[in-house]
Amino acid sequence: MKTIFSGIQPSGTLTIGNYLGAIKQFVELQHDHQCYFCIVDHHAITVPQDPKQLKEHIRSLAALYIASGIDPDKATLFVQSDVSAHTELGWMLQSMTYMGELERMTQFKDKSEGRSAVSSALFTYPALMAADILLYQANIVPVGDDQTQHLEITRDVAERFNNRFGKTFTMPDIKIPQVGARIMSLQEPTKKMSKSDENVRGFISMLDTPKQMEKKIKSAVTDSDGVVAFDQENKPGVSNLLSLYSACTKKTIDEAVAHFANKRYGDFKAEIAETVVQTLTPIQARYEELINSTELDDILVNGNKKAAEVANDTLTKAKKKMGLGK
Ligand code: AMP
Ligand code: TRP
Repeated sequence: MKTIFSGIQPSGTLTIGNYLGAIKQFVELQHDHQCYFCIVDHHAITVPQDPKQLKEHIRSLAALYIASGIDPDKATLFVQSDVSAHTELGWMLQSMTYMGELERMTQFKDKSEGRSAVSSALFTYPALMAADILLYQANIVPVGDDQTQHLEITRDVAERFNNRFGKTFTMPDIKIPQVGARIMSLQEPTKKMSKSDENVRGFISMLDTPKQMEKKIKSAVTDSDGVVAFDQENKPGVSNLLSLYSACTKKTIDEAVAHFANKRYGDFKAEIAETVVQTLTPIQARYEELINSTELDDILVNGNKKAAEVANDTLTKAKKKMGLGK
């Protein structure tokens, strides 16, 4: 059975982009893979976080994973900072990562541009991400397409380590969903939908009320053609709504376009809103049951323990190979 690792940052309430681009795939994959799903809180602190909010976001993310269908009996769900092997191997891998490689990362460029106090952790973030993946000897890493560069650097670092110290890490492959890999902002459809967007109308949170979802989709930016067609370059807004629909319903883009042929934008948007509400409402109901339950605590305690066993084993091997420790 192949091993899967993926992580999401607890940096805000998840968007429908996170759900369609990441979690939905995780749920499908857990049945026939050994899965590790991580709440990567050490990655979140690479930009300033309020401690109280961070705690809440960690718990909320855990509840959303489970509410979306992650089964703790099948997959290991855990919190990164509760398994100290991540930061230890992260440090070791920083010693194997070059400044030039890190300088090329577009996520670093995007997140640091125009800011005055950029943390060094934001810069070395990819080494920690490589550690996350390599600790579990993951074969497959399901992520949205914005993570391609980070997966490439992970492979480069793994290969460099294996060549220098002997085979230690499994080479991971990226897995990007066919549709939903990049859901765009509803207000600026050439920009990725993000939970940290200052304009809340740009994203649909997984915990928005049906009214909020409808409002946001109805005010989504489109164009003045009045024709529902898929053309990401010339019709990014309409194409994004089609991608949303297609990812929620599992219809292909062609089927989605055929479905909305000759529909007015108003009707088109109303149906998209209804589909999104139907997708998220059952998840929200389960979330409400979980968020204040001790069931959630038990799941995480158990997950942390299972993850630590595997991670510590790899860490011990890697330390030995590098000549570290007594
Ligand atoms: P993040 O919110 O940056 O921690 O991302 C968590 C996961 O969700 C990663 O696998 C991302 O690639 C994926 N993701 C984030 N935003 C989107 C989006 N707008 N569309 C599709 N996938 C996304
Ligand atoms: N960098 C990822 C993101 O921003 C989150 C992440 C951290 C991750 N470590 C990971 C994803 C390991 C996959 C595997 O979305």
